[in-house]
Amino acid sequence: SVHQATCSAPVNIAVIKYWGKKDTTLILPTNDSLSVTLDQDHLRSVTTARADASFGSQDRLWLNGEEETIKADGRLRRCIDEMKKLRQAKESKDSNLPKLSEWAVHVCSENNFPTAAGLASSASGFAALIASLAALYELQPEVSSSELSRIARQGSGSACRSLFGGYVAWQGGEQSSGQDSLAVEVAPQSHWPELQALICVVSDAKKGTPSTAGMQRTVQTSPLLQHRIKEVVPDRMVKISEAIQKRDFDTFAEITMADSNNFHACCLDTAPPIFYMNDVSRAIVQLVEELNRANEADGKGKLVAYTYDAGPNAVLYAPKDNMPRILQTIRHYFPNADFDDTFDLLGKGVNAS
Ligand code: DP6
Repeated sequence: SVHQATCSAPVNIAVIKYWGKKDTTLILPTNDSLSVTLDQDHLRSVTTARADASFGSQDRLWLNGEEETIKADGRLRRCIDEMKKLRQAKESKDSNLPKLSEWAVHVCSENNFPTAAGLASSASGFAALIASLAALYELQPEVSSSELSRIARQGSGSACRSLFGGYVAWQGGEQSSGQDSLAVEVAPQSHWPELQALICVVSDAKKGTPSTAGMQRTVQTSPLLQHRIKEVVPDRMVKISEAIQKRDFDTFAEITMADSNNFHACCLDTAPPIFYMNDVSRAIVQLVEELNRANEADGKGKLVAYTYDAGPNAVLYAPKDNMPRILQTIRHYFPNADFDDTFDLLGKGVNAS
């Protein structure tokens, strides 16, 4: 008999960036990070996991219709093995359960956006993989979302944050085993539902330095990263969490932009330097700064915040009421650009279907 489950997972965009590992196998980060999970209307991964006694011994995985090799020492292998271990523990407590942990799995994953779009696809991809295996193996609620995030983390660091909706922290942890390196909810989407995200796709070409390789080069060569890890991030984690609790957009915006700039400064401080932002990215920074200055001159605080990941695309965060003005201004200065997808933040990190 075939056992099967399908789950979808959203993309998350960090406001305090993860950049650097102290353990590249377990994926243990050099600092804590914090993100906002987007809704699933535009960007999501959908994964179906299937187990059958007739599948033989080999696990298989298809990504957007193409089969991927599951390398023996790779991230996919580790994620699937960890999930099978959890299933095995469940089976050992209840001998009536089918021994799914002994069967091979077939996994089929699709993004509703091009993988090449330079938009985070590994985060939603690994989160959907873990969620679908958790559903297939019927692990929840005994296994919590934070425990699942610990496994998703070993697929791609940022993926651990996509197991939750709303505002999510990845606690880097102290232990060398990685037991305490996991995601926790800071606040649900319903706590501050007015906040929205606008993704400005500056370029949908996949080029430049992949984040996995880029961050290790930064760890090895950047003195500024050491300052970021010790002096910059800990304080910002506390302050932005408070700003989220208080729904204080001014402070949220200030820290978000400062952290994006500090992260890109660390990239520039890497040898050889890494450039992710381009001229259009920088023009958007200037536009946001202008908009905020004008709004502050009217005594109304900040209008919008920008943040950039390992690519040139801007993600703008703003209260919903500010979005029409932001969109109008962006369209005015970038008449040829396709910058007009707004995202509501999501209540739940993963959806089972
Ligand atoms: C700039 O999670 O893609 O988006 O753990 O090597 O898979 P690996 O890296 P990944 O890095 C994301 C970097 C970032 C910042 C962030 O999402 O926090």
